[in-house]
Amino acid sequence: MAELEKKPVKIVETVLRDAHQSLIATRLSTEQMLPIVDKMDKVGYHAVECWGGATFDASLRFLKEDPWERLRKFRDGFKNTKLQMLFRGQNILGYRPYADDVVEYFVQKSAANGIDIIRIFDCLNDMRNLKTAVKAANKEKAHAQVALSYTLGDAYTLEYWTNIAKEIEEMGADSICIKDMAGLLLPYQATELVGALKDAVKIPIDLHTHYTSGVASMTYMKAVEAGVDIIDTAISPFALGTSQPATEVMVETFKGTPYDTGFDQQLLAEIADYFRPIRDEALDSGLLNPKNLGVNIKTLLYQVPGGMLSNLTSQLKEQHAEDKFYDVLEEVPRVRKDLGEPPLVTPSSQIVGTQAVFNVLMGERYKMVTKETKDILSGKYGATVKPFNEDVQKKCIGDTQPITCRPADLLDNELDKLEGEMAQYKKQDEDVLSYALFPQVATEFFKYRQAQETKVDETAADTKNGAYPV
Ligand code: CO
Repeated sequence: MAELEKKPVKIVETVLRDAHQSLIATRLSTEQMLPIVDKMDKVGYHAVECWGGATFDASLRFLKEDPWERLRKFRDGFKNTKLQMLFRGQNILGYRPYADDVVEYFVQKSAANGIDIIRIFDCLNDMRNLKTAVKAANKEKAHAQVALSYTLGDAYTLEYWTNIAKEIEEMGADSICIKDMAGLLLPYQATELVGALKDAVKIPIDLHTHYTSGVASMTYMKAVEAGVDIIDTAISPFALGTSQPATEVMVETFKGTPYDTGFDQQLLAEIADYFRPIRDEALDSGLLNPKNLGVNIKTLLYQVPGGMLSNLTSQLKEQHAEDKFYDVLEEVPRVRKDLGEPPLVTPSSQIVGTQAVFNVLMGERYKMVTKETKDILSGKYGATVKPFNEDVQKKCIGDTQPITCRPADLLDNELDKLEGEMAQYKKQDEDVLSYALFPQVATEFFKYRQAQETKVDETAADTKNGAYPV
């Protein structure tokens, strides 16, 4: 037998971003992550995904940390490994479309603070919403990876995926990611999809999936055999369930094959040893729900991402309507169809989910409509793959004329206005971006930071005055 050409599969480790976002609501703090950075830097990962997504919001809101400071600390620690972030296209790391000047400045500052690879996606797969971010990444010499938000439905044929992959390549992206946030991609479908994409484009292809439905490691195996270049995995204590397949398992699987990563299992074991007590503590405190670690086959039935399932549960709990869970789950695909059958990923997942909850709890569909539902139906998030349900559109936005252009074309530059609003709190250039994304949360954080600094100053003054023995 002729020896097969060696083609080691590249690994993106997600424990510092997606894994803890998916399992413990993004609550790993910088202090919890930094001590292991040195070891992680020796593995040989293609990249560590460590920033963006919900980490930015969670740092400011719950951990009272400056996300930019976290990024700089990662950059200091990872001397040999590329840092990757997740970026929601024109929505940046927020939940609404921003003007181009904010998108460009955010990309510039992300790269300046240490990001190498920017994974950019749009919740509707509207390519027009990716262009500004991709161009900005090109300009900053960052690697622009564009993600297809993977989903199922009549419109989502192989032809659809290969066509947008070609568009992505032409747009100037450096690689493509198949972003399967719900774990819907089945092993044999991965063979077909990866094969078709490899035929259609020349740039490398990364597969990102979640273990939610239980098929993910088989899907990776088939994808790698079909020629996928990169897979996203999480070190075992933060793997499986709503997170990614385990790094060590995939490394072992490909050992001795042409796809061998060459990673040192002993080193991976030491990294796992570090994270295991953190995972156990999260289980003890209730932060990690053991349900998130099992196979959730409903995700295949309802095509709902794991994170969205837990959001729906908590929304219903707040309304004391937990018994309506299955009604809401069945309403989700109906709302999704009404809204043009978009993929369910931030922010479309929140918009569809919240509207489904309203529709069920109010006892009449679209009796109460969120601003975001109206905005989607007005074209403000971009174009959907299928047309909207016209009756629903009429009921929600009346005679308002929907827009059909790229939504950001209608947005005036925002940076100057934002700078004006937050000038009194500014300590670094990046603060305006934190404020742009989360005005209230960032302002509270700035005030907290100010109070902390005052405290430190007072302590220093006391020490000078001899209040503390030296
Ligand atoms: Co993910």
